[in-house]
Amino acid sequence: MESNKTVEVLYNKQILPAYYKLGIGWKGLTDIEPGQFVMLRLTGRIDPLLRRPFGVYKILGQGIEILYKVVGKGTRLMTGLRPGDMVDILGPLGNSFPNPISSPFAKEGQRGMKIIMVAGGIGIVPFYLLGVKGQWSGSRQVLLFGGMGKEDLPGLEDFKKLGINIFISTEDGSVGKKGLVTDLLKKELSKKGNYIVYACGPKGMLKEVARIADKAGVACYVSLDQVMACGMGACLGCAVKVRERKNVGQGFSPANVFYKIVCKDGPVFDAKEIDWEAI
Ligand SMILES: Cc1cc2nc3c(=O)[nH]c(=O)nc-3n(C[C@H](O)[C@H](O)[C@H](O)COP(=O)(O)OP(=O)(O)OC[C@H]3O[C@@H](n4cnc5c(N)ncnc54)[C@H](O)[C@@H]3O)c2cc1C
Ligand code: FES
Repeated sequence: MESNKTVEVLYNKQILPAYYKLGIGWKGLTDIEPGQFVMLRLTGRIDPLLRRPFGVYKILGQGIEILYKVVGKGTRLMTGLRPGDMVDILGPLGNSFPNPISSPFAKEGQRGMKIIMVAGGIGIVPFYLLGVKGQWSGSRQVLLFGGMGKEDLPGLEDFKKLGINIFISTEDGSVGKKGLVTDLLKKELSKKGNYIVYACGPKGMLKEVARIADKAGVACYVSLDQVMACGMGACLGCAVKVRERKNVGQGFSPANVFYKIVCKDGPVFDAKEIDWEAI
């Protein structure tokens, strides 16, 4: 059940030049599914006015950890947060990646499949919870993690500790295979198996992942990183074009062009639903 709270910063530590981990207290937190997010704002500030969306990286005993990349004004201000500072959060929001073992989001025939998680840079965020929950439920997983270079692979050490099978690619070749994470995906899908692909990262990467999975006849879910203003389905600012009217939940459909609302209907979508030409 989502709630709007003012909560305390527990820690805020830089882990790589552009990446930080922010721990925040959240008493009474029940559960959060992999892919769900919160809208966060620095308490008492009116600039930036709007909350920013962040996935939940880890669930702490009485709180959550956010893993964030500094890209603009809001995230730059977040780097100045100290233990004891307060932030406003709204959440948990959105849907999640289906757990093929137990999730009600999983479709017929998807249970028990091996999950290939494809992450680009900060797109790693939803996969830590999926990794943890996957271990609980016994699903088989492999992580394909790509970045520009070795300083663009946040959280890698956490995943090594989870014991997940990891393959890395970097564009500059500083770690893992030189090239794109989508090259790793092509290789993985060329092996015999019963797979489902989950992806999170830049839109160009997601589009290519969707194309590769489609060509291989493999089910694929993507978490869309859309600029958001309200996070609650009110402003329609995060609308994304979908291919057909089917299941247009919170979305709308003027002039036979169909949209879904990423913050309400997503952020996780069946890749087949998305009109990738419009992305
Ligand atoms: C569902 C969801 C989950 C997310 N989870 C995380 C997360 O776990 N960690 C994390 O670091 N980031 C995450 N993001 C992206 C994050 O919300 C943006 O990076 C952040 O809002 C930027 O705020 P800013 O004020 O620093 O940047 P701004 O000053 O608002 O913008 C700086 C630059 O970043 C671009 N930008 C702004 N918002 C986004 C966005 N949503 N996606 C891509 N580019 C954007 C702008 O176009 C601009 O070029 C998530 C986004 C969504 C939609
Ligand atoms: S951000 Fe306002 S409707 Fe999604």
